[in-house]
Amino acid sequence: MTATDPTQATTGVPFTLNGTDFEAEQGELLIDACERNGVHIPRFCYHPRMTPVGMCRMCLVEVDTGRGPALQPSCMLPVTPEMKVDTESEATKQAQDGVLEFLLANHPLDCPVCDKGGECPLQDNAYSYGPGETRFVEEKRHFEKPIPISDLVHLDRERCILCDRCTRFASEVAGDPLISFIDRGSQTQVNTFPDDPFSSYFSGNTVQICPVGALTAAPYRFKARPWDLDAVESTSTVDSTGARVVLQASQDELVRILGVDSDAVNWGWLSDKDRFIYEANGSPDRVTQPLIAEDAAGSDSGDGAGRHRPVRWSEATKQAARALRIDPEKVAVIGGARLSLEGQYAWSKLVKGVVGTDNFDAQLGDGVPAALAMGLDRATINEACQPGGVIVLVGPDPKEELPSLYLRVRHAVIEDGATLIEVSPRATSLASIAAVNARTMPGTAGQVLAAVADGRLDDPIGSVDPAQLRAMHAALTSGRPVSVLFGRANLAESARYVADAVGAIRRLVPEARFLPLLRRGNVHGALEMGLTPGFLPGGVRNRRKSLANWPSTPDFEGKDTDGILRAAAAGNIETLVLLGADPIADFPDVGLATQALAEVETIIAVDCFLTASSSLADVFLPAAMAGEYDGSFMNIERRVSPLSAKVTAPGLCRADWTIAAEVSLAVGPDLGFGSLEELRAEMSDTIANLAGLSWAELNTADDGPIPPQQRNWDLDFGDPAALPPVSSYGFRLVVDRKLWDTGVMVQQSPSLAGLAPPAILRLNPADVHLMDLDASEYIRVDQGDVEFDVRFVADEAVSLRTAWLPVGLPGFDVRQLLAAGRSITNVRLQSSALESGPLEEPDQIDDVSHGDMIAADDTTQEDHDG
Ligand code: SF4
Ligand code: SF4
Ligand code: FES
Repeated sequence: MTATDPTQATTGVPFTLNGTDFEAEQGELLIDACERNGVHIPRFCYHPRMTPVGMCRMCLVEVDTGRGPALQPSCMLPVTPEMKVDTESEATKQAQDGVLEFLLANHPLDCPVCDKGGECPLQDNAYSYGPGETRFVEEKRHFEKPIPISDLVHLDRERCILCDRCTRFASEVAGDPLISFIDRGSQTQVNTFPDDPFSSYFSGNTVQICPVGALTAAPYRFKARPWDLDAVESTSTVDSTGARVVLQASQDELVRILGVDSDAVNWGWLSDKDRFIYEANGSPDRVTQPLIAEDAAGSDSGDGAGRHRPVRWSEATKQAARALRIDPEKVAVIGGARLSLEGQYAWSKLVKGVVGTDNFDAQLGDGVPAALAMGLDRATINEACQPGGVIVLVGPDPKEELPSLYLRVRHAVIEDGATLIEVSPRATSLASIAAVNARTMPGTAGQVLAAVADGRLDDPIGSVDPAQLRAMHAALTSGRPVSVLFGRANLAESARYVADAVGAIRRLVPEARFLPLLRRGNVHGALEMGLTPGFLPGGVRNRRKSLANWPSTPDFEGKDTDGILRAAAAGNIETLVLLGADPIADFPDVGLATQALAEVETIIAVDCFLTASSSLADVFLPAAMAGEYDGSFMNIERRVSPLSAKVTAPGLCRADWTIAAEVSLAVGPDLGFGSLEELRAEMSDTIANLAGLSWAELNTADDGPIPPQQRNWDLDFGDPAALPPVSSYGFRLVVDRKLWDTGVMVQQSPSLAGLAPPAILRLNPADVHLMDLDASEYIRVDQGDVEFDVRFVADEAVSLRTAWLPVGLPGFDVRQLLAAGRSITNVRLQSSALESGPLEEPDQIDDVSHGDMIAADDTTQEDHDG
């Protein structure tokens, strides 16, 4: 569907519907025009977000365009002037009867055991428009039922009415054409290809749009009946896109999540992670009562397992308060992106306003500097995906990290004529539709874009040739709106290179708008609420020393996660609060995170599970999960949408803001609000750009408001980093994330836990050939002190001389190769046959200049390797 341009003047198209005159919009399909004017036409195959195909004929209505009345499929017919439409004529009724009789001729009608029963368009249409009885007495066709076509979706071919919705979605919307029609005539069926399951990140959408019970979701099968379900609209917290969802619960248990068609955000589509992550809420591993370590009060003994005992909230908060009443510079907090805006504000006030420390970071070393994320002109998703725009992707693969956004960008490029420029060290999932694929060596994206900005277009930069430089320059200077999707494409290279790339584009196109591709759920809310060093809520710099309703503000500039962990490892942090964060599993430098947590005296974890990090906590405060509390969410566009409670939090789990309030009461003074309404009133009073936000209307506003962006600082990008030298045999490491991983939420969702693929290193085929590697072998990866063997494959998606290995996959932990602050990471690769004669030592990168806004303590690999 093409987005409507609101600036384009339209003239209505007059037509007559059941004897009454109406106006349609230019080009509007008859089925939509009737709906808008209060007349519902039954349909099966038509879906407003997909190309109409006229498969089912359920929408036949009698239309007279001046040549006499005839039956026409209203989903295929744009309204024309003076068209006369009769949706209630005898001919229309007979057509509807006939279509339903044919559809039911082979339909099993096993409604009592069908998951769709009670919310089934076939049932509803048969009752409302059907013949009432069938004349068919012949045997119906039979198929084995149901067959799993993926880990998450089952197919019952007997129930399929061949509407082509699932197949269209898979090929047209998701770009995963893994489900298709096979066979002919009465034997036509929907199926997957032999040996090729429907392993799409978006498979659950086909279940939601299937108009019958042919496709069912494995996690929901036989869990509830529609009339048992309670539902509430909310927002997915799986990533920062903020996809709009409906949470459905039965008997106080979340059993299903459906996508909501928000025109501004996700158009109704969800990733399977958005859709099925609710299983973690019901995990038996949830910690449901406060815990303190048996050896608490400073001891660092024990590995977490079984070292805790349950206590009352008052005892736990008292103990937490004792650990927080120390020199503020010795207190630090990591995390907070999981929380609602309200929880983030409360923790911000507790940590920065009461405890007085500025050591607070919601990003775990895998994001971009807060000033960069917050300080650029923000695009909306609709602006970034507008017809005919130019989109520059200098960041992670959106399909892996922000899948709902990926679908929007894909649609913009394929359907709406947007031009995509991909600047990345390896092909992303959008590479095949990009106009330019600039494959940059790690560390060189800023150099490439600086050359484009400066008009230096005649010399290649690495493998980016002059034709690509010229194509980028032409697109960026074409006068079309430019949107930049930026973030960390590679955890093994410094965020400074992202800043360089962004700075170069901004220099060339000052009016460009930006979307920071930060992955964690409410991370944009966290930055906005001051859960980052140097900032107070509302994007206010720390240097403004007072804030309304706050007892005080920090009197020093704090550290980010990298700095906090370094300080902790050096013995300079006594109390570390993990606010839904698991640095041991999540921070890129696993060695530093492990050492840091071992050194601090007291760890306070506010979490839902005992993770690698929170199991080391001296005080564990159990938090409610999304779906168990009311609040709000700020997405990648800064759009505010509701988070709604649908089920009761288990045991003694509490919403994060109430935990902050409890702890503050024990630390003293209290936070000054006792209800969500009081908290929101204070937020509106304290944070200037939230002053106009109507909290009461959050649940009723269509897409959610975007508060004004407040920026009171100048961005100084400085000079771009120098181009790192390229070694003849050294490989640069590219580390990124996959949607399915070993993260705690995926692993606590039984249907998703097994979906993480094994860790496999990818190399360019030319490098494999050059090194004479046997693809059946393991390859040895050597990086200074660390070396290990891993399976590898040849993959054209990888740049020459780079080794691509995602993080967080079963097999081994690539983070062993990463060191905080290192500019880029070089590795040496050798096959077992080359063990006795290793390839040349990898060269080291040094002397990388960088802009002022990036932390100055970045060091090279050489610094770390000594
Ligand atoms: Fe009944 Fe609808 Fe299921 Fe068919 S798809 S068995 S009509 S509930
Ligand atoms: Fe339509 Fe469902 Fe059949 Fe797919 S499985 S063609 S969505 S009825
Ligand atoms: Fe029009 Fe199916 S809805 S043909």
